[in-house]
Amino acid sequence: MTDGHLDTLKSAALGAMERAYAPYSRFRVGAALRCEDGTIVTGCNVENASYPAGICAERAAVGAAVAQGHRRFTGVVVATERGEPAPPCGICRQVLAEFAPALPVVSITAEGEERVWSLATLLPSPFSPSWLDPS
Ligand code: THU
Repeated sequence: MTDGHLDTLKSAALGAMERAYAPYSRFRVGAALRCEDGTIVTGCNVENASYPAGICAERAAVGAAVAQGHRRFTGVVVATERGEPAPPCGICRQVLAEFAPALPVVSITAEGEERVWSLATLLPSPFSPSWLDPS
């Protein structure tokens, strides 16, 4: 990914964060996935009065991307508002790993903080599709 592509992805993640629906936690999250063909697909957290029914930004982005026909990703940016740049939660790591186990994960805050990981570092032993192969 070029610096320009990364900047575009960061802007998309921050825009999605602005649209998050997080009245309960007040922790707004945006995610932007770059697909192999250059398409950018975003997601935000969408909470619910029945708390466990809420969905994280990263999984919302993966769901939207797959529904649009994208399954190959070259990077994801996660955006939160303040504090330390937050890594994806465990469930989101597993969902991302289904499609891109070594995905570059960039986390940013609206205040300008940034951290970068490989998904392989964040989730070194995912449950991968091959575990379901008959032996
Ligand atoms: N959240 C995300 O959107 N992504 C994560 O990886 C961690 C947590 C959301 C879920 C919930 O709406 C809020 O942040 C507080 O946990």
